[in-house]
Amino acid sequence: MPATTLDQLVSLCKRRGFVFPSSEIYGGLQGVFDWGPLGVELKNNIIASWWRTNVYERDDMEGLDAAILMNRLTWRYSGHEETFNDPLVDCRDCKSRWRADHIKGRCPNCGSTNLTEPRPFNMMFKTAVGPVADADSFAYLRPETAQGIFVNFGNVLATSSRKLPFGIAQVGKAFRNEINPRNFLFRVREFEQMEIEYFVMPGTEDEWHQRWLEDRLVWWESIGIPRARIRIYDVPPDELAHYSKRTFDLMYHYPTLGYEEVEGIASRTDYDLGSHSRDQETLNLTARANPNRESTARLTYYDPESKRHVVPFVIEPSAGVGRCFLAVLAESYDEQMVKAPPAERISAVSDALEAFLKSVGRSDKLAPETRDALLERGHAILAGMPETMPQIEALLAMPGAEQVELGKKLRGQAQGLVDEHFRTVLHLKSHLAPVRVAVFPLKRNHEGLVAMARDLRRSIQVGSFFRTVYDDTGAIGKLYRRQDEIGTPYCVTVDFQSLGDGTVTVRNRDTMQQIRIPASEVRAYVSNPS
Ligand code: GAP
Repeated sequence: MPATTLDQLVSLCKRRGFVFPSSEIYGGLQGVFDWGPLGVELKNNIIASWWRTNVYERDDMEGLDAAILMNRLTWRYSGHEETFNDPLVDCRDCKSRWRADHIKGRCPNCGSTNLTEPRPFNMMFKTAVGPVADADSFAYLRPETAQGIFVNFGNVLATSSRKLPFGIAQVGKAFRNEINPRNFLFRVREFEQMEIEYFVMPGTEDEWHQRWLEDRLVWWESIGIPRARIRIYDVPPDELAHYSKRTFDLMYHYPTLGYEEVEGIASRTDYDLGSHSRDQETLNLTARANPNRESTARLTYYDPESKRHVVPFVIEPSAGVGRCFLAVLAESYDEQMVKAPPAERISAVSDALEAFLKSVGRSDKLAPETRDALLERGHAILAGMPETMPQIEALLAMPGAEQVELGKKLRGQAQGLVDEHFRTVLHLKSHLAPVRVAVFPLKRNHEGLVAMARDLRRSIQVGSFFRTVYDDTGAIGKLYRRQDEIGTPYCVTVDFQSLGDGTVTVRNRDTMQQIRIPASEVRAYVSNPS
């Protein structure tokens, strides 16, 4: 079963080093995260899969990596200076600030309805360029990667001899000064986007819009997110971004959050290339482009058939890497009971949980919403026992839980039992797994086993595009569990038989079945992505 709460994922990411709060030792920075050793591998594998599908496996795409800092005129003519705003309100009572469309007229901090009128807040970050910080020397950190593609349209066209339709793909950082960053990686201030600007002949955009929608759903399925878990939201006209004629948002059902946008597929018309072009009056633009006297180029395409210059229309599939990462984790997450715990030990944990919840209910140290969140989660776990027992750890990691004295006792009762009888497993597609293969010696103090396991690890790793690790820091059962939890599809054990006949066992993460094969065949065996 996929994850049921965001806390399960937050807890896993923390426990296993997928994601860290940025500059944590100084108290962190709200809405900014760092990728840990496993997180960076999973993230890079997601990006590589996206790039392979959208650039290498198509014959109508080019790649690009444009700079984050751009001439600020880019953002004037893209429309972002004027329109990239969120509605901001202040709570007059507790002085906190909120995004008006997220709070339904009531301050989430103190409950007051004494709020200011919403006013626009531009979300672009500014930075000074050069040694003198004055009104003219600033640049924006880009809030989307897309504009780097539009302003390079002429360069790519001239150097690649492409004909319409063709697209340009880019992966890179984007920055938004979100008023209330929240929900872990879901809404942050620094994030990565995987964006495609696909240029088509005017009049063919609706057909290409549909085709991209289909192609993108195929990719989501290939990384383990079935179609049935994604809803397509046909964005109503009054919610469309300023550049869009029509947009399909792909909404993934995130644990705790429900359906939320993971990718937008917009039909951007000739708005962007038109707005960045000079001599607009000669271009027959359909969009209400931003009048532009400062661009030095006309971003047009010469159509050899009609012998006319046209401004291509644009289809833009744009996905956030962090939201994709979260969806992949949620979808692949599973907690399984491997053998049933004895009834009396289940009762002992249930009793400890009940006592903990009573203590939460009585506590006057906890803020009401913190207390309610703990109670709601805790009672759901209690109702689902014993299957839900592994969720106790995430409950104890929730805000406020550390202030409840009985938490320690509950952890003491539950932890050993969970370790012994349950496993957390990420059923990641092999090509995404941070580690594809883990190699263990049956005994870490046996020279022959250790040497063979280390050699095998090296022979699998060299020349492979996936990661292979060696581990001897625990008993085999414990090592299997640790690898299950990070989604390693294959665990290879070198045992005494290996020393005699050169065979090893390969354990499958999902079935937990083992087969015995010659060590020399392991590399080929694990190389087939599933
Ligand atoms: N170029 C079009 C564009 O930027 P968008 O809908 O604003 O469109 C595209 O962003 C994607 O970027 C979203 O679907 C989402 O996955 C991701 N994204 C946007 N804002 C984000 C934020 N504050 N934190 C994390 N991801 C974000």
